[in-house]
Amino acid sequence: MTWDPDSYLVFEAERTRPARELLARIAVQHPRCVADLGCGPGNSTALLAARWPDAELWGIDSSPEMLATARASKVAARWLQADLTQWSAQTGYDVLFANATLQWIGDHEQLLPRLMQGLAQGGSLAVQMPRNFDEPSHTLIRSVARAKAWARSFEGIGATTPVGSPEKYFAILEPYAAAIDLWETTYVQALEGEEAVYRWMSGTGLRPFVQALREPERTEFLDEYRAALATSYPRRASGVTLFPFRRLFMVAKAR
Ligand SMILES: C[S@@+](CC[C@H](N)C(=O)[O-])C[C@H]1O[C@@H](n2cnc3c(N)ncnc32)[C@H](O)[C@@H]1O
Repeated sequence: MTWDPDSYLVFEAERTRPARELLARIAVQHPRCVADLGCGPGNSTALLAARWPDAELWGIDSSPEMLATARASKVAARWLQADLTQWSAQTGYDVLFANATLQWIGDHEQLLPRLMQGLAQGGSLAVQMPRNFDEPSHTLIRSVARAKAWARSFEGIGATTPVGSPEKYFAILEPYAAAIDLWETTYVQALEGEEAVYRWMSGTGLRPFVQALREPERTEFLDEYRAALATSYPRRASGVTLFPFRRLFMVAKAR
């Protein structure tokens, strides 16, 4: 799937807040080498650069569109185009940071141990993933996708991997970690403007579905999804739309 950095950054403040809160829980003081996995347009990398200006900082992403925006951001980092399903750390990283990335990559039972093994002794793996796949924003995509003949176009498309329970991730990390900090937060986001949840989803989880369709089916599919969203997420008289969003956070310190 291709990414559109402009669409992603429409809600930059809301998307970057969990990265800030994840970063605040990392205890590493003077890291030598730090990587932002799935750095996107560089919004999360900018936070890492500000906290650890002396570290060797890498922004790694598979999307050329996202990396072009990251490079233009002037954040003091080195940028690398790589697929994290294949990538493994060549050096012991002091911090591996992945905000809103790993839900796009399956097989967390293999992936997280591999990332833990890429850490230097005492280094930290810090991960945040959405855990809202059973909320209407996502279930409505799936139900509209199933409802008509266009369902055939969605076979095998790359969508996000449902994120499991905190207990599941504790069990995956436990054999590799000296300490694990796991928590969840539900942000009750008050989004401004028309069709706010639709615009949010257009920057992320809706993209694989949109890209799988051609016109006129694409517009018909989107019209049905938008109508369903309007019922589930009504816009308030004040103009804001409440969009509750649960996220799972973990910081694991390597042995
Ligand atoms: C939702 S954005 C997160 C951007 C940023 N980290 C933030 O905090 O807002 C997810 C990023 O993960 C990247 N990504 C998804 N799958 C990937 C993979 N297999 N390898 C590398 N990057 C991947 C996407 O290209 C996208 O830029």
